[in-house]
Amino acid sequence: MTDRTSTTTANTGAPPARRPRILTGDRPTSDSFHLGNYVGTLANRVRLQDEYETFLLLADLHLLTTRTTNLEEIGHNIHGLVLDYLSVGIDPERTTIYLQSLVPEVMELTWIFMSLVSVPRAQRIPTLKEQVRDLKLQSASMALLAYPVLQAADILMVKGDLVPVGKDQLSHIELTREIARRFNDTFGPVFPEPEGLVGDVPTLPGTDGKAKMSKSLDNAIFLTDDARTVEEKVRSMYTDPNRIRADIPGRVEGNPVFIYHDAFNDDRAEVEDLKARYLQGKVGDVEVKRKLAAAINRFLDPIRARRAEFAQRKGLIDEIIQRGSDRARRECQRTLAETRQAMGLTYFRGAADVEVE
Ligand code: TRP
Repeated sequence: MTDRTSTTTANTGAPPARRPRILTGDRPTSDSFHLGNYVGTLANRVRLQDEYETFLLLADLHLLTTRTTNLEEIGHNIHGLVLDYLSVGIDPERTTIYLQSLVPEVMELTWIFMSLVSVPRAQRIPTLKEQVRDLKLQSASMALLAYPVLQAADILMVKGDLVPVGKDQLSHIELTREIARRFNDTFGPVFPEPEGLVGDVPTLPGTDGKAKMSKSLDNAIFLTDDARTVEEKVRSMYTDPNRIRADIPGRVEGNPVFIYHDAFNDDRAEVEDLKARYLQGKVGDVEVKRKLAAAINRFLDPIRARRAEFAQRKGLIDEIIQRGSDRARRECQRTLAETRQAMGLTYFRGAADVEVE
């Protein structure tokens, strides 16, 4: 446990101070994040990686709950997402990046937790109904029903205190807290009760004006889009539909073009000027959009440069995943041993045969 003890002050005799922990992650559904993911959670992860000891997982087991085809694409997606992590500034020296399926202990903890959650409770999770509807399933599979229980195991396995996620995930964090409470009440204090953390712009609208930017709705701007693609996507963006001419006063509030300006344009004076003129009917959509595309490209340029640099380094991503997964696995084995001990599952020295400090 060198990593943890190294953060303590030397020779004070005080117990080692544990930095609070973040655990969060993503399903490898695609090979790049979009701007909505960035403001929803990636920015928080970058910002907090010093303050918190951070674990970041690629949830391939979660992906299997909804996908049974094109599975060979998963490896490619994992590679792309880790490249994105690095390009937005997540540092693998400070953040443990790992692959869920390389930590099989999480399945055992999931099984243990499943006894603590009733079927009706799991059925009340809103994302379950959404998935069944969106994927046009006849009914949920056992795995889909257990999805948030597996997520609770991810979080509690590394004793995560804070979980930066998109807004849609908060019901899973609530269930995680319930599981932690129920376990601790029944068997003794093992787990923290983690908090969710949603980003500054909890849901970024899509370029089509729909409530949410999403790859499946085809209304997203990706971190990997080149400058031309960004310009085209912004040019065709949804704005105030009532404003058919530039001299008609427009609506700024709730207008996606200005929501994006607020989120990505570092030139605040320009944004205020555009808003004022838009409200008075003194600026055309073309100018507002041209300046927005330029701002988004300014924001993306350093990310693109870093991505290109990391992509050249052969074997880098695999090595980061392997190293992170080894480290996360040791941590999880320790928690599992502690869990089994608290439950009195000490009748056989198997999986629990790991030293607990
Ligand atoms: N369910 C999350 C999503 O789809 C991904 C995920 C899996 C996760 N395990 C997690 C997020 C643990 C936070 C913590 O976005």
